[in-house]
Amino acid sequence: MIYRTFGRTGLKVSAAGLGGGGFSRLGLAKGKTEAEVVSLIHLALDLGVNIIDTAASYGTEEVIGRAINSRPRDGLVITTKASPAKYPSWELFTPENVVASIDNSLRQLQTDYLDVLQLHAVAPHIYEHTRDVIYPAVLREKQKGKIRFIGITEAAAYDLEHKMFQRALAEDDIWDTAMVAFNMMHQNVRTGVFPQTAEKKVGTLIMFAVRRIFAQPERLKQELGTLATEGLLPKWLADSPDPLDFLVHDGDPSSVIDAAYRFVRDEPGVDVVLFGTSDPHHLREDILSLTKPPLPTADRERIVTLFGHLVGVGIEAPKNVHSAVR
Ligand SMILES: NC(=O)c1ccc[n+]([C@@H]2O[C@H](COP(=O)([O-])OP(=O)(O)OC[C@H]3O[C@@H](n4cnc5c(N)ncnc54)[C@H](OP(=O)(O)O)[C@@H]3O)[C@@H](O)[C@H]2O)c1
Repeated sequence: MIYRTFGRTGLKVSAAGLGGGGFSRLGLAKGKTEAEVVSLIHLALDLGVNIIDTAASYGTEEVIGRAINSRPRDGLVITTKASPAKYPSWELFTPENVVASIDNSLRQLQTDYLDVLQLHAVAPHIYEHTRDVIYPAVLREKQKGKIRFIGITEAAAYDLEHKMFQRALAEDDIWDTAMVAFNMMHQNVRTGVFPQTAEKKVGTLIMFAVRRIFAQPERLKQELGTLATEGLLPKWLADSPDPLDFLVHDGDPSSVIDAAYRFVRDEPGVDVVLFGTSDPHHLREDILSLTKPPLPTADRERIVTLFGHLVGVGIEAPKNVHSAVR
């Protein structure tokens, strides 16, 4: 496992971070039993993962609590989230709502403290409310010892240009961690976010490295067809039966997913790459990818040259009101 320093928190975290949300929700979204989910989490921990991300809205805090209960708490970094607004109506929550969410997270996770409490899916238009109304209340909870560090995550599908982070990182020096969307076809963090997180030593977590676009070949092919029709990608890519097969050669990278995780991991400015899965075989593969050597330089350069101009590919907006898919 590769371990990194998580920005100004100073915590040592695995570069592979287990994601409790997404379309798999550790398996709860795919009909796995709680016992299967607990053993999936234990497998990740046994393979060296020491950071687990979840959120009040994912419905996975309770099962994570059950899984970590038997492990030394000080060897783990647990990051969870509270929402400053209802999703997707954006009706604003009060500080009391958010404090109740934090207390509930502590109960569900069976822990006395959260390593990082992140304010969840902060779209640009709710940034002021988040900073001026919600943050002070969270800071008070931190001073009581319930929280070690305070972070913020973007509402990726509503903010493809990272406008919230551009403002937050320029105006304020209050965020210890930042969760940002980044993948092979959505690379604009390189200019818009990472120089600022580096300057302020804000720890970074990456979401959307794979999501569905790189996990489902038919979805990728359809998307590439659309982009070629719009003139955003060369036609040969869309016409190819396996469009990203040029990345998979001589067993290294071993798959598009392997390339996708490693591409993101080695971007300067990235601390933790979140990976989400319901499947122990996928989990082993993902952790292996995130511990392999860097991609061949020629592959990395090709991904930047071919796709560096694209914005928002694979950043899917939730399709329904239930926010657990985020
Ligand atoms: N605004 C926010 O705060 C926000 C938004 C989005 C995500 N997040 C966080 O980021 C985490 C990661 O996002 P994500 O869950 O979308 O993860 P991801 O790693 O980008 O994508 C995972 C998807 O790919 C599939 N997959 C993973 N490994 C595979 C493999 N080796 N072979 C085939 N398929 C594979 C999984 O399905 P299987 O179950 O079939 O493996 C899963 O549905 C979330 O869990 C959450 O913690 C936060």
